[in-house]
Amino acid sequence: MTSRASVDSPMLNDDAPWDDFDPSAYFDQNYRDLLDADAEILSFVRNHFSDHFREHGEYLERPILGIDIGAGANLYPALTMLPWCREITLFERAPKNVSYLRDQRLHADPAWDSFWQVLRKDPAYTRIDTERTERFRKAIRVQQGNLFALGRRNVFGLRRSAGRWQIGTMFFVAESISTSHKEFLRAVECFMRSLAPGAPFAAAFMEGSTGYDVGNRHFPACDVDEAQVKESFRNFADKIETRRLSEVSHMVRPGHTGIILVCGKRNPKS
Ligand SMILES: C[S@@+](CC[C@H](N)C(=O)[O-])C[C@H]1O[C@@H](n2cnc3c(N)ncnc32)[C@H](O)[C@@H]1O
Repeated sequence: MTSRASVDSPMLNDDAPWDDFDPSAYFDQNYRDLLDADAEILSFVRNHFSDHFREHGEYLERPILGIDIGAGANLYPALTMLPWCREITLFERAPKNVSYLRDQRLHADPAWDSFWQVLRKDPAYTRIDTERTERFRKAIRVQQGNLFALGRRNVFGLRRSAGRWQIGTMFFVAESISTSHKEFLRAVECFMRSLAPGAPFAAAFMEGSTGYDVGNRHFPACDVDEAQVKESFRNFADKIETRRLSEVSHMVRPGHTGIILVCGKRNPKS
């Protein structure tokens, strides 16, 4: 995510140019080659999900529903959930990203293979290695929508889609869709409310981001640190594990000071 020198002027999610978000430019900038940071994130998330399902004795016999919120032009969060899911919803607002994801369901770019190589070091992934492409095709559902509507109450006071998904990911979204700290908090809340009690999840955040360019368009970000990220999960997950990646080798995407990864389990309370 390429930076700008100056800090953004305030921009809410509804005001950013999502119709112009160019998935090819974004993919080329971020995922054409596997970066050390993504390999580290993949390993951490792979172990988190794999340990969770091993402990709970839940394997392929009872496949579950997964969601990746704000999927953009990134397939690797969905790949981390693939061994356990009969359906994975890729939930995305920007129209060109929606088309990209629909196309990738049938014709995934070979670049994603190197991401899969990291995952297949764990037996849960090796087990589905030969059928990976077919499983991906069958599981993926691309849904266009606004994540803030996921948590909205309907006329009966019930939250739409609350607790529907049993595993979830949200990568570089809550802090990268608006300059507003309030919207950052609401995005984390909507993600967490979409998950069923006990659902394992992983979320990644750019730390200290000043916004980013995709192609020739600029997109807003909210500058968050590790403490703020942790606090955003307080009501929704009792125990989270965070990892901060700030090595020089991870800073190939300028315009931020590090990456914060959060893994946990949705609590049954709020
Ligand atoms: C920085 S990109 C992250 C993309 C991808 N998750 C990744 O890991 O690279 C932010 C994504 O959030 C999507 N987005 C922005 N506002 C959204 C909203 N209100 N609801 C759902 N998705 C949204 C954007 O279209 C974009 O794909």
